[in-house]
Amino acid sequence: MELSGKRIVLGVTGGIAAYKAAELVRLLIKQDASVHVVMTDAASHFVTPVTFQALSGNPVFTDQWDPRIANNMAHIDLSREADALLVAPASADFLAKTAAGIADNLLTTLVLARDCPLFVAPAMNRQMWENPATQRNVATLRNDGIGVLGPAAGDQACGEVGQGRMLEPDEIVAELIAHFQPKVLAGRKVLLTAGPTFEAIDPVRGITNLSSGKMGFAIACAAQEAGAEVTLVSGPVTQQTPRGVTRVDVTSGLEMHAAVMERISGQDVFVGVAAVADYRPEAIADRKIKKEDGATPDIRLVRNPDILAEVAALPAPPLCVGFAAESHDLAAYAERKRMAKKIPLIVGNLIQHGFGGDDNTVVLFDDAGQWPLTPGPKIQLARQLIARIATLLENR
Ligand code: C5P
Repeated sequence: MELSGKRIVLGVTGGIAAYKAAELVRLLIKQDASVHVVMTDAASHFVTPVTFQALSGNPVFTDQWDPRIANNMAHIDLSREADALLVAPASADFLAKTAAGIADNLLTTLVLARDCPLFVAPAMNRQMWENPATQRNVATLRNDGIGVLGPAAGDQACGEVGQGRMLEPDEIVAELIAHFQPKVLAGRKVLLTAGPTFEAIDPVRGITNLSSGKMGFAIACAAQEAGAEVTLVSGPVTQQTPRGVTRVDVTSGLEMHAAVMERISGQDVFVGVAAVADYRPEAIADRKIKKEDGATPDIRLVRNPDILAEVAALPAPPLCVGFAAESHDLAAYAERKRMAKKIPLIVGNLIQHGFGGDDNTVVLFDDAGQWPLTPGPKIQLARQLIARIATLLENR
């Protein structure tokens, strides 16, 4: 229910992706937003207003001169009460008109008369998207502070392949949710580690662990939504980089250590989420170890540097946050780890609750005590953690 109490005006313009706007309305309603749909004439050639009316539970507007509006000012009334105006799909023609400030139908007039943020999700044939006129218009829109969501690349309804597909409805909803997050880390710099490390034994083998990177990527995303400048040093994972986050890919614990130390100066917050291998092979065989070479190989291990403890021991450390993934006695181990690493905040979780999955159950431990977070999807936990980090930063 991330959009509770939010009133969204959804503009639908003419394009085949208009059918996806129906799903978009459903997802917005699922997040508890109230949705008011405005369609252009062209849009109603693809989907009827009845569809949107049924899904949104609200009257749909297509005509500037709609007699249902007592004062005949639909363009003013609809925009004044909106928390955001979202146009999806946004056709090339709509983008051009908006960039030029043309108001020749209800939707474009509403856009010009708005006093709320505007987001557009372009959808068009790849050549229309690549056309210099469209690119010029999109640059103007960005310059005017309008949120341009996508487009994505892929198969197109016309049979071509390329840039111009509308973002998927769930991606558009995620962008809107991000927009409404409180900007508690505005102007702050946050560095994180995430994922596992891979400690090579020979050119094809190594020691690693099952960390998926999901929690670290979720925290990077939540920090970015909260207005921070975010750098994410990641071990080998398959996660998608959150929008606006600078990602640095590393493989081993030593590489992760070097990447963090290079960037730590000037950071306000450091969050060590990575499951850094405690040990690495002392030497990496430069050729594949063959079993016919004789006896069982003797792989000597040496300790990896403790990145988090080292950052916390810097003369003027950023606010350091660690993770304690335990199988039992969570509170005792988490607190012991917090003391040993001399960090103000540690996030404890039981591995049987969260490892690899989309949801987690975690408890925060800091000087003020224990704070169990509401269990749920990792992104929601990440947002709660960011709120706590912001409070600690303020009181520092
Ligand atoms: O000591 P332990 O591995 O249990 O501590 C976990 C916390 O320390 C996590 O926040 C992890 O990212 C961090 N860590 C680290 N470098 C290591 C080992 C752990 O930054 N070599």
